[in-house]
Amino acid sequence: MAARERLAVSNFDDGSGAKNAVTEALEVGCSDGLPPDLSAAYLDIYRAVRPMLATRNNDVHTRVSCQFAVEILRREEGDPRIVIPAILLHDVGWHVVGEGRLKGAYGPKADNDEFVRLHEAEGATIARRVLSAQTYPEGLTDEICRIISRHDSGTACASPEEAIVKDADKCYRATLFAFMYFPAEVDTSLQGWYEWLVDGYRHWMFRAWGRKLAEACLESTRRELGLVGEAAGVRSREDDL
Ligand SMILES: [Fe+2]
Ligand SMILES: [Fe+2]
Repeated sequence: MAARERLAVSNFDDGSGAKNAVTEALEVGCSDGLPPDLSAAYLDIYRAVRPMLATRNNDVHTRVSCQFAVEILRREEGDPRIVIPAILLHDVGWHVVGEGRLKGAYGPKADNDEFVRLHEAEGATIARRVLSAQTYPEGLTDEICRIISRHDSGTACASPEEAIVKDADKCYRATLFAFMYFPAEVDTSLQGWYEWLVDGYRHWMFRAWGRKLAEACLESTRRELGLVGEAAGVRSREDDL
């Protein structure tokens, strides 16, 4: 969907003057490439793990989630030297879990968190190896690996960077790319996936800007796919403070 169409379906005008920023942000998630102007060091990290991202369509997921991360970083405080490598590497561990063991590991019918924990742990190990090979600063690497090791299972955030990575990861679930792949993979209808998101977004998000992106993206996708039920109620932890 073109950004202009996203604008047409955007229901954001909270009177705070944020509408232009949201409109601008609605381009996020419309293409499946990496964000433009990503620096060479980050591109090297992505290229190093790209062959491992074939599992679970994680190549598209990683690139689009990186778009969300960059967009959230424009509005929320966080260190891109941590956020960008963390989002690029966060799901590389699914490569070790393997395509045949994904059912039941995520989505509305998830009933086995063993593989969620495994992909986090393996992802952190692979991330450390890749970053070390590129002589990435050790202190940053430690925090990147910590975030990856709990990016799905952790229910709280110990740093702003962790919150941004978690929000960018979750925003992706509302994109057309996610709807075109994930529901069929986990034996769920598009409507079933949508309803899982509406419910999940009430407690998944940590930052206000992440919430806005998720809500805009979900509403846009809902209209495009003709799904039923308004996605009101996407919240971030900040809203509850
Ligand atoms: Fe993950
Ligand atoms: Fe992910």
